Amino acid sequence: MSLPQRTPAPRDPRSLTFLQGAKPPVQDAAAALRAGLLAARAAIPPRFFYDELGSRLFAAITALDAYYPTRTEARVMQDHLPAIAAALPVTGCTLVDVGAGNCEKAAGLFATVQPSRYVAVDISTEFLRDALLQLQRRFPAIEMCGVATDFAQRLELPPAVPPGRRLFFYPGSSIGNFSPPQAVLFLQSLREQMRGDGVLWIGVDLQKPTAILERAYDDELGVTAAFNKNVLQHVNRLAGTDFDVRDWRHVAFYDEAIGRIEMHLEAARAVEVRWPGGARSFGAGERIHTENSYKYTTDGFGRLLADAGLRSAGCWTDPQGWFGVFVAEPR
Ligand code: AVJ
Repeated sequence: MSLPQRTPAPRDPRSLTFLQGAKPPVQDAAAALRAGLLAARAAIPPRFFYDELGSRLFAAITALDAYYPTRTEARVMQDHLPAIAAALPVTGCTLVDVGAGNCEKAAGLFATVQPSRYVAVDISTEFLRDALLQLQRRFPAIEMCGVATDFAQRLELPPAVPPGRRLFFYPGSSIGNFSPPQAVLFLQSLREQMRGDGVLWIGVDLQKPTAILERAYDDELGVTAAFNKNVLQHVNRLAGTDFDVRDWRHVAFYDEAIGRIEMHLEAARAVEVRWPGGARSFGAGERIHTENSYKYTTDGFGRLLADAGLRSAGCWTDPQGWFGVFVAEPR
């Protein structure tokens, strides 16, 4: 594989563009979290996992033997990259990385896809900035741009995003956090942003035996348990609650009928949680729902794409059929 050529006039990393998109105000987070805690079935949305420590714990999860999705997706990409690339607009597109993180997954595509422009979208530009500056030095021929936006429900790109035919890259089965109806709405927003001639590359975790799924979300080192409990420390900072993580136990199970992993935090004893202006008591064994992670069949995900007005242009999996990479286009 040859790397994109260094151009005679490399781009100056200091001229990198950072755009600010839709951003929910901080007090909304506190109010939403408190409302979630007061609900009959208490819940904390999974996006609150990712404070600084949470992001590091998630990175540790992806390195676990028990957590198969990251390495399995990487294997699908490695084994099928030429075939997948053949289904894409390839050269000269604008690669839009949805939830870019450290930008490493997308960077692995540059040599094959050869985008002219790279747009890294994530919730905060803080983390993006360093990753993007380094990437711009490695790939000076690609015009790069960071977009900070909250895409909890829909993806909306600011109008100043660089032009060109768009390839949306949405790996890691992040789509699994949405319920199927929410996923359809989100995919519809991507379809709008694809504007008729765009393409979507999406990674989706697939249904498999319960024991394998449950080990991936309740690993023997307790890293996922720490990741789950850490959300309480983040909520303490955001909503002024006084959770003590030692009062809570990690619970993860697969609901085969629904096709989803559920994660909860279960009160180990009767607990009273207080915050300025409110409180909630939990009985021993009572739970806070922290995450759903939906698992699809290849057919089921194809139907979901169709419901969002997209047509599957190809699906690739590993030999065990554990993880799927789909390429889809507007219908
Ligand atoms: C980042 C949503 C894809 O559902 O597997 C990992 C998050 N939660 N272990 C997933 C997660 C517990 C992960 N996603």
